[in-house]
Parts: sequence; C-alpha cells; structure tokens
Amino acid sequence: MQKVLLAQLPEFVRNVTATLALDRNNTKAVVLGLRGELGAGKTTFVQQLARQFGIRETLQSPTYVLMKKYAMPEGLNAFGVPRRFKWLVHIDAYRLEKPEEFAALKPEQFLNDPSVLVVVEWPERLGKALPTPDLNILFSSDGAAEGERYVQMEK
Ligand SMILES: Nc1ncnc2c1ncn2[C@@H]1O[C@H](COP(=O)(O)OP(=O)(O)OP(=O)(O)O)[C@@H](O)[C@H]1O
Ligand SMILES: [Mg+2]
Repeated sequence: MQKVLLAQLPEFVRNVTATLALDRNNTKAVVLGLRGELGAGKTTFVQQLARQFGIRETLQSPTYVLMKKYAMPEGLNAFGVPRRFKWLVHIDAYRLEKPEEFAALKPEQFLNDPSVLVVVEWPERLGKALPTPDLNILFSSDGAAEGERYVQMEK
C-alpha cells in the first residue's frame, strides 16, 4: 500500500478527484467508498476533498447524523478538473443499525443525480442499498508511524 503523510494528503486527494472526473456515466451520482478501520483517516480525507472543491464550511463527521450534504460553490472546480459536481454528499454508515435508516434518507434522490459526488465511510455497512462504488479507497493505520497512513485505490 502507498504511504500517505498528512502533508501529502492534498496531492493524493487531487489524484482521486482526477480519477473520478474521468467517470463517463452522466446519469447517476459518482460514488466513492472509503474503507478501513476506525481512525484510519477517512474523514480527514473527506475534509481535504471538500476544501479542494471550494467548500468552506467545516466538515463535521456525520457519524451520528448518517449523512450531510454540502453545496460546491459555483465557478470553482478542483484543479482544472472539468466541473461536474455541484453537491457533495458525505455519509458515515458506521452507526447504521438497519437498512431502513438509510432508506429513510431517500437515497435514490441523490444517487440518481449526476451532479452529486457521494463519499461513503463504511460503505460495506450499507450492503445492497448502496450501488457498487465507482472507486474504493482502503485506509489503514496498521504499522504506520504517527503522521502517516497507508492508502490504496481499489478499482
Ligand atoms: N494521512 C494521515 N496522516 C496522519 N494522520 C492522519 C491522516 N489522516 C488522518 N489522520 C489522523 O487520524 C485521526 C483519525 O482520522 P479520521 O477521523 O479521519 O479517521 P476515520 O477513518 O474517519 O475514523 P472513523 O472510522 O472513526 O470515522 C485524526 O486524528 C487524524 O488527524
Ligand atoms: Mg470518520
């Protein structure tokens, strides 16, 4: 796995968003799955991603609310990537107890919107309610020194 120092996180996020922008499917949201154990760096990654898309609000972990939606400011795009996304939906399924909780969010509304980028922590907990992510990233802090994490893009 690739070692990512906190200082190198912006560059890694940029590579991921560039990869996502190549997605040619224009009828549905793009789904990014973030896998890995507690504290492996998933939310930190989303915070950096939000910043790169021009979102100025402080991004809170949606652990207790399951989902948060942020508008991406008009006119800004992430590092020359053609503008496609208008919304960031951040989901943390860690505390999900039953699939109905996710269904209550009416996920079809954002999953069928091509202007939405859906980033999901603990995607495996949503099971079949979530379409197969377009890209998964695996995070790990196992054996990592302080100030570093391991990350891997899985396609
Ligand atoms: N690339 C990184 N290098 C060093 N430290 C990191 C990195 N990413 C995150 N951290 C640190 O690890 C801690 C936990 O990170 P974070 O909250 O992003 O984990 P998480 O995967 O979202 O956990 P959870 O599953 O509980 O939501 C934070 O203190 C954060 O600063
Ligand atoms: Mg988190």
